[in-house]
Amino acid sequence: MKPARESWTTKLAFILAAAGSAVGLGNIWRFPYVVGENGGAAFVIVFLIIVALIGLPLMVTEITLGRETKKNPIGAFKALAPNTPWWLVGAIGVLAGFVILSFYSVVAGWGISYFFQTVTGSLTEGTDFEAAFFDHVGQGFAPVAWHALFMALTGLIIGLGIVKGIGRAVRYLMPVLFILIIMLVIRGVTLEGASEGLQYYLQPDFTSITWQTWLDAAGQAFFTLSLGMGAIITYGSYLKKDDDVPGSASWIVGLDLLIALLAGLAIFPAVFALGFSEADGPGLAFITLPAVFAQMPFGMFFGAIFFLFFSVAALTSALSLLEVVVAWLVDEKEMSRPKASALVSFGIFLLGIPASLSMGAVDIQVMGMPFFDFLDYLQETFLLPIGGLLTLVFAGYVFTASKTRESANENSTSFKLGVWFEWLIKYITPAAVVIILLAGLFL
Ligand code: PHE
Repeated sequence: MKPARESWTTKLAFILAAAGSAVGLGNIWRFPYVVGENGGAAFVIVFLIIVALIGLPLMVTEITLGRETKKNPIGAFKALAPNTPWWLVGAIGVLAGFVILSFYSVVAGWGISYFFQTVTGSLTEGTDFEAAFFDHVGQGFAPVAWHALFMALTGLIIGLGIVKGIGRAVRYLMPVLFILIIMLVIRGVTLEGASEGLQYYLQPDFTSITWQTWLDAAGQAFFTLSLGMGAIITYGSYLKKDDDVPGSASWIVGLDLLIALLAGLAIFPAVFALGFSEADGPGLAFITLPAVFAQMPFGMFFGAIFFLFFSVAALTSALSLLEVVVAWLVDEKEMSRPKASALVSFGIFLLGIPASLSMGAVDIQVMGMPFFDFLDYLQETFLLPIGGLLTLVFAGYVFTASKTRESANENSTSFKLGVWFEWLIKYITPAAVVIILLAGLFL
């Protein structure tokens, strides 16, 4: 007999675990550099519009589909639409989990390595932080080894079972992460010369918005909210019936936004005050923040805690990525959890090797970009938006919008979704995704 399916122990446990999935490298690492590549404050506004129009409705929808079916993404679509090809949407999610985690783990590995470099004092004042970053990621072996360590840890935790472990861990980690970021913001905005960065981050120049801005903002929204690939369906599947879906969804989206916006506020003043380039790409957080720490009293201490929590925030997200793939093998293929976790983690580790090497050690290119960038491009331009779009179409037309709304409202104690929600998921949100996808790709 299969062991009974786990469920979250408390209502807070679900919100924290889902927020733990959402809050991660997408907020601390990716959001600031995507803002930097897209001209600053105007991008932030476009991003906020997308979160309201696409992120929030899809968050409600995914939690609802999970709670309704109590299944992994592929199983969920199969349960609601048996003998149709809709399960393929879940399959896109499983593929996305695999692809995203392979480069995500590489970045998490940089975080662990930076933790040790901070503790051993090799990142002190006077270091050329830009050169140090590119040196580090360009080494062949070391970043791959850190990536291996991170994947092993993720695989181990998922192999042990998710609900109790994750539930317990995030309860303590999320508040600490929050306090740390606030401290970094205070340090950042009080640096001499911070005002230029604040202006860049807070004063929009609307002429810089193009279709590409919208596409990047949509990609970032899906990524940071863990949407479009069934991670939230999976976490929702461990919910009990008496939980509050609209309220939880609002909390998760709100917390995620808050951490991303604060991360930007911690980084941009420092970028300008210390003379870095806002267009430094994936290295931005790794270049700017160590420079800030090097100048702070007790900087080594704060730096160490920061990179520790950077890695932990990455871990709580990585768990949800791996869980999508593992839940599918366990539920649908009847594989044992430890075996599924070991197998998948190893596969993801392998795919991450060329991603890591392509950051400078070896010239591995696909479609004219380093393999690392290619994987990110694949998930942000195709996998997540298309997965999200099809999920909305499914909820709106196959499961039907009225049933989705009814199911989401069941046992809600905070507020109930009105008929407007049906309009959103049937017409407005899917149309927004289609327009952005097509325009971003072809204009
Ligand atoms: N939301 C996570 C982050 O911001 C990444 C993630 C994407 C996790 C998709 C799960 C699914 O870091």
